[in-house]
Amino acid sequence: MNSQSTPDRRRHILDLDDWSAEELRTVLTIGTQMKDVLARPVKQVPTLRGKIVVNMFWEDSTRTRVSFELAAKALSANVLTVGAKDTSVKKGESLVDTVRTVQALGADYIVLRHPHSGAPYLVTQHFRGSVINAGDGRHAHPSQALLDLFTMHEQLGELADKKIVIVGDVLHSRVARSNLWALTTMGAKVTLCAPPTLIGPASYWKATWPNVTISHNLDHAAEGADVLMALRLQHERMEGGLLPSLREYTRRFGLNAARVALASPNVLVMHPGPMNEGVEITPDVATGPRSVIETQVTNGVAMRMAMLYQLAGVN
Ligand code: NCD
Repeated sequence: MNSQSTPDRRRHILDLDDWSAEELRTVLTIGTQMKDVLARPVKQVPTLRGKIVVNMFWEDSTRTRVSFELAAKALSANVLTVGAKDTSVKKGESLVDTVRTVQALGADYIVLRHPHSGAPYLVTQHFRGSVINAGDGRHAHPSQALLDLFTMHEQLGELADKKIVIVGDVLHSRVARSNLWALTTMGAKVTLCAPPTLIGPASYWKATWPNVTISHNLDHAAEGADVLMALRLQHERMEGGLLPSLREYTRRFGLNAARVALASPNVLVMHPGPMNEGVEITPDVATGPRSVIETQVTNGVAMRMAMLYQLAGVN
């Protein structure tokens, strides 16, 4: 799916499937500049002064929603956030109706989180401004992948040939899919690790990302890893019966101190949040010396500023 408006100017950010390494590097550089802005006593620049950003969150979210709000405010935009509960969606209004209403009210940017894969692509057909995908179904979550990329790049430098292990509910994870695009484009070696029921056939993944490694054994996968990224078990997207028991899952696929010790001494422990502590990650590892989980949250604001900045001027 193509999110370019013209070859040299992007109007929307829907996924990272059509991003070049050069474009990823540019957004990382802008992210560093935005992080500097956020370190100043006055954490604001005028880039989006007079522009209206509408966050439409049709699915629960804490960090992504708040992070987009802070990012838009730091760029001086007027921001409002609406959820399905606050709108006429309850009265049967469709997503397209809501988009048309928001457009008539003058919105320049829509940041959309939606439970259905592909929803942001539909919005682009009915909205004259820019659309940013803040997570659609199990399909894509580009802002999370960009903040993850930024955090890895900041701590590890060049990512070419780095070993990145993504462990957990890969099958239902939009974070894993967008991370695969960004990381493979930067030349990293990605291993997806999960029980067979939470990952599906290797051929499914290799058809899109031929160099990805599929593993069902975390003790093997963790060896020498530069990054161990745990994913949340997505109960809301599971049809049930995918796991024998949570305890069995934790025993075989949970990130714990023993598994972190198998990785590189400089390994980064990551998690997009929200965490089920004690299930996919132990509390000591989540807050331990190798964890950059809080840094991910902090970097999220700078990277979402960078994304809005890259689209500025198109509208
Ligand atoms: C992720 C999401 O919503 O896709 N969280 C997030 O954006 N911080 C991952 C998840 O829900 O497990």
